[in-house]
Amino acid sequence: MHPDDRRTALRTLSLAGLGAALGGLLSLLLRWQLSFPGRPIPLLGPLLFPDHRGAVPAASYPALFTLHGTVMIFFAVTPALSALALIRLPPLVGRERPAHPALHRAALGLFALGLALLLAGLHARFGAPAFGWTAAPPLSTARSPGAGATLWLLAVACSALATLLGSFDVLATIVGAPKLAWSRLPLSAWGHLFAATLNALFLPILLGALALLFSDRHLGTALFTAPSQPGGDALVYQHLFWIFGHPEVYILILPVWGAVSDALARAADRPPALRRAVVAAMAAVTLLSGLVYGHHLLTAGLSPLLAQGFMTLTLLISLPSAAFVASWIATLHGASLGPDAPASYSLAAVVLFVLGGLTGIPLALVTTDRFLHDSAFVVGHFHLVMAATILLGLFAMLHEALGRLGLRAPSIPVARLHAWATALGALGVFIPMLRLGLGGAPRRLYDPDLYRYLHPLLAWQRVATVAAALLFTAQLAWLVAWWRGRR
Ligand code: HEM
Repeated sequence: MHPDDRRTALRTLSLAGLGAALGGLLSLLLRWQLSFPGRPIPLLGPLLFPDHRGAVPAASYPALFTLHGTVMIFFAVTPALSALALIRLPPLVGRERPAHPALHRAALGLFALGLALLLAGLHARFGAPAFGWTAAPPLSTARSPGAGATLWLLAVACSALATLLGSFDVLATIVGAPKLAWSRLPLSAWGHLFAATLNALFLPILLGALALLFSDRHLGTALFTAPSQPGGDALVYQHLFWIFGHPEVYILILPVWGAVSDALARAADRPPALRRAVVAAMAAVTLLSGLVYGHHLLTAGLSPLLAQGFMTLTLLISLPSAAFVASWIATLHGASLGPDAPASYSLAAVVLFVLGGLTGIPLALVTTDRFLHDSAFVVGHFHLVMAATILLGLFAMLHEALGRLGLRAPSIPVARLHAWATALGALGVFIPMLRLGLGGAPRRLYDPDLYRYLHPLLAWQRVATVAAALLFTAQLAWLVAWWRGRR
């Protein structure tokens, strides 16, 4: 690998690692508060909340989940995918270097600036941003007077711009590859190609929504005012955000789908089954992803006709996702898999993706979503189908990419153990959150103890927290194993 590209990739991966560590730590704080609200957090409690006798102060809880969601999506998974595209893509299309390496260097600078702005916002007057990763007004406008909210806005804009630059290079690297044969393009490359296309289409919408939010905060406009106030409409922001927000899920998972398909085919020592169907499925998902976003707004007062339209389109988009599963099963059918680390991560990712995907069906239906919307069931669902599946997919890609960086990956037994410990840990965290949601537990709820109807479900909260601690420990163990054997 060219030394400049290697340096950029290593730095971007390190930044993503830092983001993941911070996001993971925040999730443990959230989990502890939900399980032991009255008990100080061991070790960290006195450091983080010196004047508080319980776990997390009420005013800090919204800031914790806002930061957790924002860091994990915009400063952990996104830069990791950007670095892995820089490392993995050129050889996949027969090139030595990406088309525009400078774009990745600029992206690294923007990711770093964004993360610094986000962390600076924690110390802002009137406190850290506390309006969720979706930053819906008026929470993110009139209800957030301090600089923290504006720094959050600028931070996410930096991450979006960095991703856009990286995506322009991905498109140029693939489409401009001199000896490219589309019929033989690996599915990993197709995944990056469709993800970059979605970034190019939908990140400008996020940037536009953030610019309008900035205008409401600082330029005296009233585009997203609360219903009680004359002028704009806060719901318009939610439409703009989710027009980007739902394709964002596919932006993050398309490269993983491609990598999983290639890893399983390599381990089975045969070409991926139903290859053309998989490429067509990726294209279908790319086309439909901008049309299903309304399922995030089914309880926001949409007209019944519109709500039914979004429900139908959402059920439709699950069909191409099923094509991936069919291809993975057909590829593995009758094959004897040798010991292979990327294949272990991929198999674990397939299990979580299928389970997580199935839990999406009741959320797509107008009827059941009325009950489940904004509950812990939603949090369980997207962590299974997105967060945990992507985490495993990233490790499958990283295990291969380390070689190109001149570093050694952990041994196959260590990687296999890590893959299944991560999968079991994720199931242990997020299945209880599905159960809690079915029991009526809302998401973004500070203290479940305050509600008697949630008392019988406390054990599920505690199972999820113990599993989260095990999941976190498994990642630390992987890091130690890798660090000790990296050269
Ligand atoms: C690995 C361990 C993880 C654990 C234990 C965890 C735990 C949690 C919990 C408990 C919440 C809900 C807080 C609440 O509503 O009260 C949450 C929210 C969230 N998590 Fe995670 N999470 C993890 C990983 C991830 C990853 C890898 C991602 C992204 C790729 C992610 C993205 C989010 C987002 C976007 C939210 C919503 C934040 C909001 O409500 O604004 N999480 N997480």
